[in-house]
Amino acid sequence: MELEGKRIIITGCANGMGAATTRAFVNAGAHVIGMDIDDETGASVCTEATGSGSARYMHADVSDNDSIQSAFAEAVSTLGGLDALANPAGIHRAGVTGEITVEDWDAVFAVNVRGTMITNQAAHPYLKESGGGSIINFGSISGQRAEAGAAAYSATKGAVHAWTRSAAGAWGADNIRVNAILPAMHTPMSRTAAEGLSEEKMNERYWRNFHGIALGRDYGDADRDLGPVMVFLASDASHFITGQLLPVDGGQTNVR
Ligand SMILES: NC(=O)c1ccc[n+]([C@@H]2O[C@H](COP(=O)([O-])OP(=O)(O)OC[C@H]3O[C@@H](n4cnc5c(N)ncnc54)[C@H](O)[C@@H]3O)[C@@H](O)[C@H]2O)c1
Repeated sequence: MELEGKRIIITGCANGMGAATTRAFVNAGAHVIGMDIDDETGASVCTEATGSGSARYMHADVSDNDSIQSAFAEAVSTLGGLDALANPAGIHRAGVTGEITVEDWDAVFAVNVRGTMITNQAAHPYLKESGGGSIINFGSISGQRAEAGAAAYSATKGAVHAWTRSAAGAWGADNIRVNAILPAMHTPMSRTAAEGLSEEKMNERYWRNFHGIALGRDYGDADRDLGPVMVFLASDASHFITGQLLPVDGGQTNVR
């Protein structure tokens, strides 16, 4: 019951890590508003989450400031305040460095970077009013290493890391901590990234992404491996941790 009574907004709640986070938070006693643009799936994830907390769904597009401002205002009024924001909403675009289109660059920056800034800024005054709280962004190992095949995505995650440090530095005075998870999980996003790859590319992918995962040489399961970490970071147990990039990846990032 580490989140009993906590009031939390989760973006990207319909799939992957957002859905797992919704289930983990409700199970830990939190009252959650889940937001996404995939309305049907998002609504079922919220309805089906079980535990002593609760979850309701609202449509919101993280790349659109007006959409987020009005959804957050409505969510906070429904919840009666805000204690945490979990922000896994994101998109991936493959694209070789020399051939990325301006359209793909703008699309991935709009959701991953502008979306992080907009949602974090929208949460800030409500968290401050509650006397502090936790913001959990989503970075990636892609923001820390060369990604010749997904350079725009990699650049967005580097930007999320930099933003997370700046926001942590600025909002610590309001008792708001801001951290980023660097995950490696099987989700719709990771499955789509592998679709249609040749055997040679799948082999490269194994050596690049899986072989270095000390714990099992495989991506994690978001409910089993990420959910409890999200509960910890949203809870008061992590009250002295801020500005950190936390890999939840079985050792992919730092164990060689
Ligand atoms: N899967 C991995 O191993 C991995 C690795 C590193 C980083 N990440 C990051 O973790 C986060 C979660 O990834 P995932 O694998 O669960 O992805 P996913 O694609 O499975 O789920 C992402 C969710 O975000 C929603 N979304 C997309 N655009 C949105 C928008 N404009 N507004 C609101 N919601 C929107 C989607 O509808 C979807 O429900 C992402 O930021 C991703 O970049 C994932």
